[in-house]
Amino acid sequence: MNKLSVSILAADFSKLGEELREAEVAGAHYAHIDVMDGHFVPNISIGIPVVESLRRASRLVFDVHLMISNPEDYIEAFAKAGADIINFHVEAAKDPAALIAKIKALGKKAAITLNPNTPVEAVFEYLHVVDMVLVMSVFPGFGGQAFIPESLSRAQTLRNFIRDNNLNVDIEMDGGVNIENAGQVVAAGVNVVVAGSAIFGANDKAAAINEFLIKMQ
Ligand code: DX5
Ligand code: ZN
Repeated sequence: MNKLSVSILAADFSKLGEELREAEVAGAHYAHIDVMDGHFVPNISIGIPVVESLRRASRLVFDVHLMISNPEDYIEAFAKAGADIINFHVEAAKDPAALIAKIKALGKKAAITLNPNTPVEAVFEYLHVVDMVLVMSVFPGFGGQAFIPESLSRAQTLRNFIRDNNLNVDIEMDGGVNIENAGQVVAAGVNVVVAGSAIFGANDKAAAINEFLIKMQ
């Protein structure tokens, strides 16, 4: 089954627990938690204490997206805080294979993330050990940006490689996904869809989640 991961970057930060509860009741599967350090990306968002507090407020799978330099220094802290899936950027990791091993040794799922201008081939050598690849469909740093159409063929290339090599790897897409393009995203081989502003910016969030789930079937 395809999964919907709601990006809380677009939620009301004064009531994140409530926002996650609503999303869970409406049928969302994962909470996508965007961590930015003002160094790897030109913006600052939230960090470890917020993940820790949210862990007490939600049973959703926590899909933590680390847009940070030196991710190796923070893996344990995010695992302890309650992350279920830890996404790090291939562009930021000194030794991606070691980082994947570390995340898995902590009992968490490891995901390797690609910026839009990083060739997809950069992650081929890790696909036999990683649980998920996150294909960015915008340049990371901000919610509400326009979807980069070339992301679809990038996902398709990865899906073909995964299939041809008999691997079992999820493909997540993040940035500018909305109800209009969600069907194309899934058709390109993506099975974990991130949506922020298309859900938390909607008048009726539950209805938006429901529409996503229908488009993603
Ligand atoms: C971008 C973040 C995304 C973003 C998605 O830097 O990694 O997760 O919040 O938001 P939308 O769906 O609004 O593009
Ligand atoms: Zn993200």
